Order: sequence, then structure tokens, then C-alpha cells
Amino acid sequence: MTDLTLTVNGKRVTRDVPGETLLSELLRETLRLTGTHVGCDTSQCGACAVHMDGKVVKACTMLAHQAAGTEITTIEGLANGELHPMQKAFNDNHGLQCGFCTPGMIMAGVDMVQRYKAEGKTLDEAAIRHELEGNLCRCTGYHNIVKSIQQAATEM
Ligand code: FES
Ligand code: FES
Repeated sequence: MTDLTLTVNGKRVTRDVPGETLLSELLRETLRLTGTHVGCDTSQCGACAVHMDGKVVKACTMLAHQAAGTEITTIEGLANGELHPMQKAFNDNHGLQCGFCTPGMIMAGVDMVQRYKAEGKTLDEAAIRHELEGNLCRCTGYHNIVKSIQQAATEM
């Protein structure tokens, strides 16, 4: 066991966790932030996507200790009193069905909108579909997910 300190959703936390603990395990099992889902555990589905220092990462393929000293944001930390524009857009556009992929889709969506805006690039439908290659959805056919991200991109 080794002490690990990081910031999660704005709160500094220190926990004594084994070196082999995954970031997804730390979030879900130690901190009980179960909005971060685990679908594949092999970096394919994107259900475990969170932000580390403002950039999207897959929490199932990172060791918790690799996040030492960083700022992690999970789906639970995205809303700030009211829904984040990306969350509202998924609601407005029916961008989910079972919801299993949704936290990861939303975290990936926020990351891509912020990145494209920072780089002055246009996030059109083709770019959104390309960016979503790391996030799988079994239910929606992706169409309403793309529409949701397009709406949020105009509001963020
Ligand atoms: S659970 Fe991490 S990518 Fe699928
Ligand atoms: S809404 Fe069910 S997996 Fe995407």
C-alpha cells in the first residue's frame, strides 16, 4: 500500500492504495464515484473516460498512482449547480438509451469541444464521428449523440 494524493472533482483526497490499483478502481470502489463506468477494461469502449488535468483519459488503463498530483474530473464533477451544457444537450437530443456509455460520451464530448475551440478548428459532424472512435455505444446508432455534441459545441 502506498499513499496517493490527487484532486478529484475539486476536492483533494489522499488514500492508501496498492500500486496495481487502476484509476477506474480508485474512482469507483474507493471513492464510490460510480458514474465512471467500466465496460471492457481494455481501453476500447470509452465508458470509463474522465478528465485528467483537463484532458480526456481512459481510467481503466491507467494506474491510480499515475494520477498522483493531478486534477481528475468525473461525470459527477461536471455539473456546477446546473447541468453542464453537454449534459443538457444529451438530454435535449435524446442522446442516450440505456445510458451505460453516456458518462464516457459526455466526458469525451466536452474534451473534443474544448480542444477544437482552443485550436480554432471546426468541429463538424465528420470530426465528431472521428473523435468518437474511442467510445462505443450499443444502443443509439450514434446519430443523437452526434447531434448532442453539435448542440453543446454552440453553447460551450
Ligand atoms: S472500460 Fe475503459 S475503455 Fe472500456
Ligand atoms: S446508450 Fe446504451 S450503450 Fe450507449
